[in-house]
Amino acid sequence: MRALVMTAPSEGPDRTEVREVEAPRPGPGEVTIDVTHAGINFIDVMARRGDAGYVPAWPYTPGKEVAGTVREVGDGVPDLVVGRRVAAFAREAGGLAEVVRAPAALTVPIPAAVPSATAAATPLMLATALLLLTDAARFSPGETVLVHSASGGVGGAVARLVPALGGGRLIGTVGHADKIPAARQSGYDVVVSRDDDLAEAIRADGGQVDVVLDPLGTAMLETDLTVTAPGGRIVLFGNAGGGRSAGLPEPRRLIGGNVAVAGFSISSLAVTAPERVARALRRLLDLIADGRLTFPVTEVGSLAEVPEIHQLLAERRGDGKYVVRVAES
Ligand SMILES: NC(=O)c1ccc[n+]([C@@H]2O[C@H](COP(=O)([O-])OP(=O)(O)OC[C@H]3O[C@@H](n4cnc5c(N)ncnc54)[C@H](OP(=O)(O)O)[C@@H]3O)[C@@H](O)[C@H]2O)c1
Repeated sequence: MRALVMTAPSEGPDRTEVREVEAPRPGPGEVTIDVTHAGINFIDVMARRGDAGYVPAWPYTPGKEVAGTVREVGDGVPDLVVGRRVAAFAREAGGLAEVVRAPAALTVPIPAAVPSATAAATPLMLATALLLLTDAARFSPGETVLVHSASGGVGGAVARLVPALGGGRLIGTVGHADKIPAARQSGYDVVVSRDDDLAEAIRADGGQVDVVLDPLGTAMLETDLTVTAPGGRIVLFGNAGGGRSAGLPEPRRLIGGNVAVAGFSISSLAVTAPERVARALRRLLDLIADGRLTFPVTEVGSLAEVPEIHQLLAERRGDGKYVVRVAES
């Protein structure tokens, strides 16, 4: 089978290539999937540049979210049959390939009304956005949500999910003013370039926010604390810059501010509580099937084109969500 292979750490696309490799077989509790579509994610870029904890060994095939059909079923998997159209979180990556192995516990049937290209964006990106809002931030309808890097994939997914979860006010930040229109188009009420005074913009918009979703390490944490209302929740879920994070605030800052700082990682949750990821995945596919959630994706034609999309993401030039068509569905 053909797979996208990263041969060694690199800041560029030079060490990523499509190679012929042996197809995986399922172990107990696993399935293999003939992949038709796979999500392309920033986490692939973090792996490519060699951030600690992402690549167990080189060469490495990235790709944690796929849609396709069940190819083979391992022992102890009673409820999935060969040929069934499924979406899966590929816990050990390998999804940017013609065949991937995934835990059955993280593999969910796709309703007929959901296109495979959209389904391929659910296991990691949309599930992250949903779990950030519901599990990590305990979002309630009517609350104000601040999201950093609002024009990216997760940022766009949060904007589309908040209305489906009962609605709320959405404030986004972007790294450069030219990303403001993209964030506004996905549903943000207010978008602020981080070159501008965010605290002042939030004061002008009504004062404070209830939830902050922050993938920027601790770079914005001081501002997050300044703009969060009593009872607010700040969720740290990434370190896009890849540098060393500063420490967390003094406890008295959190106690006095009546704010919580939480963390979220879907990759960890897929190991420690896979049923929560699978539940999110089912809920998302149902929301899409019922027409209560729409999520546009940009479809890329082949695995060979993925390295240039990775580079686009690495250079912060991405716009929304990218999915690659690996085979005809
Ligand atoms: N914890 C989890 O489970 C989880 C799951 C999925 C994603 N994430 C994280 O969430 C973040 C967004 O993911 P995504 O899939 O939405 O990615 P994306 O579409 O590629 O967007 C990434 C955005 O991060 C911002 N950024 C800040 N510093 C950057 C840097 N040094 N290099 C590149 N981009 C930088 C850029 O937006 P601005 O210029 O507008 O800031 C960029 O557009 C990433 O940090 C990712 O690792 C975490």
